[in-house]
Amino acid sequence: MSDLQALEAETLGAVAAAGDEAALEAVRVAALGKKGSISALLATLGKMSPDERKTAGAAINALKDKVSEALGERRTMLKERALEARLASETVDVTLPVREAAIDTGRIHPISQVMDELTAIFADLGFSIAEGPDVESDDYNFTRLNFPEGHPAREMHDTFFFAPNEAGERKLLRTHTSPVQVRTMQKTNTPPGASWIAAGQTPPIRIISPGRTYRMDSDATHTPMFHQIEGLVIDRNIHMGHLKWTLDQFIARFFELESVVTRFRPHHFPFTEPSAEMDVQCDTSGGEVKIGQGTEWSEIVGCGMVHPNVLRNCGIDPDEWQGFAFGFGVDRLGRLKYGMPDLRDMFASDTRWLAHYGFSAFAAPNPASGLS
Ligand code: PHE
Repeated sequence: MSDLQALEAETLGAVAAAGDEAALEAVRVAALGKKGSISALLATLGKMSPDERKTAGAAINALKDKVSEALGERRTMLKERALEARLASETVDVTLPVREAAIDTGRIHPISQVMDELTAIFADLGFSIAEGPDVESDDYNFTRLNFPEGHPAREMHDTFFFAPNEAGERKLLRTHTSPVQVRTMQKTNTPPGASWIAAGQTPPIRIISPGRTYRMDSDATHTPMFHQIEGLVIDRNIHMGHLKWTLDQFIARFFELESVVTRFRPHHFPFTEPSAEMDVQCDTSGGEVKIGQGTEWSEIVGCGMVHPNVLRNCGIDPDEWQGFAFGFGVDRLGRLKYGMPDLRDMFASDTRWLAHYGFSAFAAPNPASGLS
């Protein structure tokens, strides 16, 4: 076998053995590159006699063409093979079910939903929103709300207290949203820009205040953190009739009923006089609570006329202004409307629970399009 034939066999063998385009390129450079084996042979032509050059030149050029052609074919083949492998690995089974988008599976927590419903209803009744901090002073949570120093009602609230600070002041986690009443009425005494005060609150006042509250308590109907919504109206000549109308309106709208039957039961809160609890007509005979029918009563809200001492403690003259206040348990309202059996599940962060009881993000409640 001549040198040329050996080179041909070797180069074509290398072309055939190249497994991918990079290996093939290496073979091309080794044969036809500037310092390649065939290029080196072509360079020898210059030193040959014209006769030698004629035969050798033809043979070397024929080899070069053969190798180029083999390279081209192999490259095309490798390209096709790579494409096929890619197509095979990237196949999409178009018959598979489409995975639901997060926007469709994500859920609004029932507490958020109920809060939005409450806000929508009270906004429609002309109330604005006020907020207060979860960490409160003893003064706002108790003293200014007419809880006497050392009064057992302070203990009955099962308060979470913080360790006293250097000044001996003991902060606490608010046990109800009623301190927001004080903060709202006291607006003139609060630092400018304090965010928890609804704008421009000198009487008349008409606010609601939804938020978190805390008490040391945990069973199927109590969680250590729960939610309340406070209501406060201060104006001239306000009486219990206004309170009853407002609560009846709210309860009927919240439960999406034409009207409801309610009753006041005498009660005691230090910050209201007279104080009452309101019950709503219901039927529990079928195992679940149905509001607005039957012959039973379900306690639904604590309320009363704002105590003159509280008005005085907040710098409002009780001879000129009167008002009413009320406080709903938001979680309880949610349970009554949407029927969750155990309150503790609400805060267990179980996505299965949320998928079942949650609401679509696209169904924001408002009085025009409906609540739920
Ligand atoms: N703060 C009371 C409670 O937590 C509820 C309430 C609010 C009662 C306003 C009367 C007026 O039980």
